[in-house]
Amino acid sequence: MSLTVRLAGPADLAAAITMDAVATHDAHRRDWLTRAFNGETGRVARLAFLDGQPAGFAVVGDFFSNPFLDLIVTAPAARRQGVASALMAEIERVHAGLKLFVSTNVSNTVMQDLLARRGYLPSGRVDNLDPGDPELFYVRLPAPQRRLSMAKV
Ligand SMILES: CC(C)(COP(=O)(O)OP(=O)(O)OC[C@H]1O[C@@H](n2cnc3c(N)ncnc32)[C@H](O)[C@@H]1OP(=O)(O)O)[C@@H](O)C(=O)NCCC(=O)NCCS
Repeated sequence: MSLTVRLAGPADLAAAITMDAVATHDAHRRDWLTRAFNGETGRVARLAFLDGQPAGFAVVGDFFSNPFLDLIVTAPAARRQGVASALMAEIERVHAGLKLFVSTNVSNTVMQDLLARRGYLPSGRVDNLDPGDPELFYVRLPAPQRRLSMAKV
């Protein structure tokens, strides 16, 4: 099994929409992805390939001048094979010296497990984004701070 990740652009939009169950039925999500894959507001999209086939994507934006993982999706048929982990490893490598933020819904325990496994720290909660499903924020600290925070546990 081979896993690769590369930067993505407008030509990759169709592949991303096919992989994202939300985008297939939600015009707002398709519009957001179109703008993200065009690099609007500085967003950076990446595509992962499993054995040469598009298998997942991630979009990084900005959060109070820190990198923020806006969205990460693995195609349903490619899940649990390390696709999201490969995308995150690449994003973490590129932003290694910075605080990398990400958020997910309280209901998304899969994403919470993935973030805990990768050493992300809980960083607060925002209500009233999705009704009845608060947004949990996490951060991955730069390596020296991460070692300090682990030493305190
Ligand atoms: C969350 C998501 C991106 C994970 O993608 P993935 O490619 O399947 O993840 P990986 O294979 O890299 O899994 C890494 C780890 O995450 C956790 N994990 C992933 N899927 C899991 C599941 N179904 N149940 C429990 N833990 C899970 C595990 O700890 C896993 O490691 P392991 O397989 O060694 O146990 C994918 O489920 C998805 O696209 N979900 C819908 C979109 C979404 O919710 N995105 C996140 C919000 S931005």
